[in-house]
Amino acid sequence: MKKRNEYLAVVVAVLIAIGAGSGVFAWSGLYNIGADSPHWPIVYRFMQTVRARSIHAHARAIAVPNLDDPHLILKGAGQYAAMCTGCHLAPGMATSEIRPGLYPPPPILWQTHVDPRDAFWTIKHGIKMSAMPAWGFSHDDPTIWSMVAFLEKLPGMTPEQYRDIVAKAPPDEDMKMEMEHAAHAHE
Ligand code: HEC
Repeated sequence: MKKRNEYLAVVVAVLIAIGAGSGVFAWSGLYNIGADSPHWPIVYRFMQTVRARSIHAHARAIAVPNLDDPHLILKGAGQYAAMCTGCHLAPGMATSEIRPGLYPPPPILWQTHVDPRDAFWTIKHGIKMSAMPAWGFSHDDPTIWSMVAFLEKLPGMTPEQYRDIVAKAPPDEDMKMEMEHAAHAHE
């Protein structure tokens, strides 16, 4: 019994030391938070695990609608072209002005397939401490599903196929609304 208490005291002391050490380290300002300096590998791996597990856990119960609906895919193409290519690129687009400065780097979505549940959750809620915005503030669920439906078709698309589908897509109404607002503001 005495041995067990001593053991417990050591564990508690070590935990307190780790906690206090982390606090001092955080307060010291030694960690470089600049986006042009990569995380330490252990921090990066930790963050990647937190991110992947969190998205997976939160997205697990989401019910996926029919993503093969051509109207939905077409609408998503217009949304994607209007809002996502600066960070996630598109077929025929090698880079952008904003992309080299982003850390963590956004996945190139015409070269990667993302599980539709994960994609829906991420687009709606965004990712903290990264450049990925929560589009759910300005877009309803059906519009977000249109983006997911398009993402299902995007990987492997040629630049020509991409141009064609975006040209046929309905205009991004939310963007039109913002532009009308801006126009009124200048009146
Ligand atoms: C300002 C840059 C930026 C814009 C604009 C942006 N994203 Fe992202 N997105 C990111 C970053 C950065 C990540 C990766 C974050 C990370 O790894 O922690 C990401 C991740 C993602 C993922 C990956 C999720 C996963 O599970 O791997 C998807 C899907 C996604 N974005 C979709 C979109 C869509 C659709 C749009 C347009 C409506 C969009 N993004 C606009 C920066 C952006």
